Amino acid sequence: MLIKSAKFVESNSDVLKCPKSSLPEYAFIGRSNVGKSSLINMLTNHKNLAKVSGKPGKTRLINHFLINDNWHLVDLPGYGYAKVSKKEKRTFQKYITAYFEKRPQLVNTFVLVDIRHEVQPIDLDFMIWLGESTIPFSIIFTKADKLKSTQIEKNVAAYSAKLLETWAEMPPYFITSSAHKIGRDDILDYINNINKS
Ligand code: GTP
Ligand code: MG
Repeated sequence: MLIKSAKFVESNSDVLKCPKSSLPEYAFIGRSNVGKSSLINMLTNHKNLAKVSGKPGKTRLINHFLINDNWHLVDLPGYGYAKVSKKEKRTFQKYITAYFEKRPQLVNTFVLVDIRHEVQPIDLDFMIWLGESTIPFSIIFTKADKLKSTQIEKNVAAYSAKLLETWAEMPPYFITSSAHKIGRDDILDYINNINKS
């Protein structure tokens, strides 16, 4: 898919205030600092569409972007950021859960995980929750430039073995690096194929 246009639409904390359109929507979520905003910038060919930060926990709202005037890309807040209060965490969790439960436009969720790390309980719990809620999802491994290709293969195999202990099948997955522009076409083609079907 060619990206002809990518525009920021709006940020919301309340799912019911999110854009009232019937366009198909693709959400990106993952632990804080996993590289969501960088990935979104890579996908859309923008340097600064989504704010990239050295400080984790930067993305705190549901951010809608309109792509090619025919689908929405959604940057969701990172979960598992330690430096927020318990109360903040609960509020956070509430509106994220509400987003998934009250957004029928949502077609697919991309769960981002850092390719260097083992399966994290918070990611696993989240994927199981998505599965049980029958919300289709795929995995995006980020920061692949940090590893050699043999190590990438090993980590992906270990990751899928761990997932398969609690989950029936490995969901579709993508290996990416925003720094080296890897994985861009695969993800865009995947979205394009769903949009066409
Ligand atoms: P929050 O919104 O703050 O939760 O973070 P995020 O998930 O949006 O991550 P962000 O894109 O802001 O990137 C976090 C850090 O990881 C930044 O320092 C990025 O430069 C770095 N980073 C992101 N993607 C890559 C990548 O593909 N390779 C490398 N080497 N670093 C990356
Ligand atoms: Mg971000």
